[in-house]
Amino acid sequence: MTRRAIRPDHRPEGKPAEWAKPTPVILCENIGKVYSSGRIRVDALRGVSLRIEEGEFLAVMGPSGSGKSTLMNIIGTLDRPTSGTCLLAGIEVSGMDGNGLARVRNREIGFVFQNFNLFPRMTAIRNVELPLVYAGLPARERGLRAGEALDRVGLSGRALHFPNELSGGQRQRVAIARALVAGPRIILADEPTGNLDTGAGEEIMAIFRNLNAGGATIVLVTHEREIARHASRLVVLRDGLVESDGPASAAPAPAFLPPIFPDSASCPAAPFPREAVRCP
Ligand SMILES: Nc1ncnc2c1ncn2[C@@H]1O[C@H](COP(=O)(O)OP(=O)(O)OP(=O)(O)O)[C@@H](O)[C@H]1O
Ligand SMILES: [Mg+2]
Repeated sequence: MTRRAIRPDHRPEGKPAEWAKPTPVILCENIGKVYSSGRIRVDALRGVSLRIEEGEFLAVMGPSGSGKSTLMNIIGTLDRPTSGTCLLAGIEVSGMDGNGLARVRNREIGFVFQNFNLFPRMTAIRNVELPLVYAGLPARERGLRAGEALDRVGLSGRALHFPNELSGGQRQRVAIARALVAGPRIILADEPTGNLDTGAGEEIMAIFRNLNAGGATIVLVTHEREIARHASRLVVLRDGLVESDGPASAAPAPAFLPPIFPDSASCPAAPFPREAVRCP
């Protein structure tokens, strides 16, 4: 009996290296998105291709209007591309109907937005339970899982608080608990620290790092280089195209970001906006 040679990457003899690669969790090919209203046409994305493997932590940066949120919405199936295809967890989502999309979205993706998007009349735990309501879980199990999710973000003591009784950082932690409660493989976060001070932002990033260490794939849009440094890979968009794609640590300071002033002494005096030049 002849035994077939077993290669370290489990690739059968004669097959190209590409064959052995696992299915990427997100695969976008040549995504275009045109918004048109009347005679005005905006090419928000002009051919973006992106392959994201399971367990990656990817930051997306780029100037305002470069297409970051548009790309996130397309990856997250909240919007459809005008051209190109997107596979989510190996499933071709571009041609799916509304119900099919909602099912894939609910199962595979957790969303976190800059403005938290919590329901103001619901307590923290009720907000966190929502994806489980859509998934049809019984009330008791929903409560248990939502309690666990709040615990994971360090907020079990605030379960019965309403959003207006929580700080911005705590609200965002509730939103993250809601994003992770159904056990999605992918977490998409569009400027999750954009409305938070540095301390709260760092706490949020520590939670994302933990989720990623637990196996979640994270795609996070940010305007802040310090935030992007928590990721392992950085994609920079410009004018609807990928300008660069590489390790987050090796990324040079993108030209669109204002310079960092190492200490307050070298910061320009008011009325120059301190925030805009990233003064401590
Ligand atoms: N619904 C829409 N209708 C028309 N144009 C839109 C729509 N949504 C976005 N755009 C345009 O598409 C382009 C990309 O927008 P997008 O929101 O993706 O940018 P962004 O990179 O997320 O910017 P920011 O950093 O300001 O959030 C912009 O020129 C924007 O004006
Ligand atoms: Mg945006």
